[in-house]
Amino acid sequence: PETAAVAPLLLAWYDRHHRSFPWRISPAEGQQGRRADPYHVWLSEVMLQQTTVQAVIPYFQRFLALWPRVEDLAEAETDAVMKAWAGLGYYARARNLKKCAEAVARDHAGRFPDTEDGLRALPGVGDYTAAAVAAIAFDRPSAVVDGNVERVVSRLFLVEDSLPAAKRLFRALTASITPQQRPGDFAQAMMDLGSTICTPRRPVCALCPLNDHCLAFRSGAAVESYPRKAA
Ligand code: ADE
Repeated sequence: PETAAVAPLLLAWYDRHHRSFPWRISPAEGQQGRRADPYHVWLSEVMLQQTTVQAVIPYFQRFLALWPRVEDLAEAETDAVMKAWAGLGYYARARNLKKCAEAVARDHAGRFPDTEDGLRALPGVGDYTAAAVAAIAFDRPSAVVDGNVERVVSRLFLVEDSLPAAKRLFRALTASITPQQRPGDFAQAMMDLGSTICTPRRPVCALCPLNDHCLAFRSGAAVESYPRKAA
């Protein structure tokens, strides 16, 4: 694809078709200089790692009702956090959640670091979460690569390698289309495109804002056969 063309098309699509979630601000608010709360973005991203958005919404709202600020979560009883987490699975994540909140409260005066490296230094924050919080909460141009984004990129660039070998390539290709303007919206737009249009089966290419640039679509390939599966 023409890499510089991708972000403007995707952002224009996102302005019209973005999904609303309790942890998001709208693109219109973002363009007025508002940012989503880093605590909200971090909490939602950790919850979303192995769980669907529909399942996460009530948990996210309950956590914020119980612990409105990261300092409140830092001071919570571990048992209460584990109880509020029950049903989300992967309980190590809940334990790390509490440790991370304690580190932010104790070492950072309750404010999340505003760089990818600073975020990655927090307990339980890996490459994905650091990139997502840096982009969405602080509008840093990090390459945010989850499963949805891997699928979109594999099709856009007709990547023939399969995971996990293609991991680095997906990251580099995502970086190559990530804009300096509105990188947080861009990251969320990639996720929304992957969830609603560029779906695993039966992608709706006719409605895709990137179809003119998509190598899989243009080549006449079976778009749903990307990303390639290991033999
Ligand atoms: N899945 C993981 N992070 C997400 C986000 N910020 N928006 C929508 N879906 C997501």
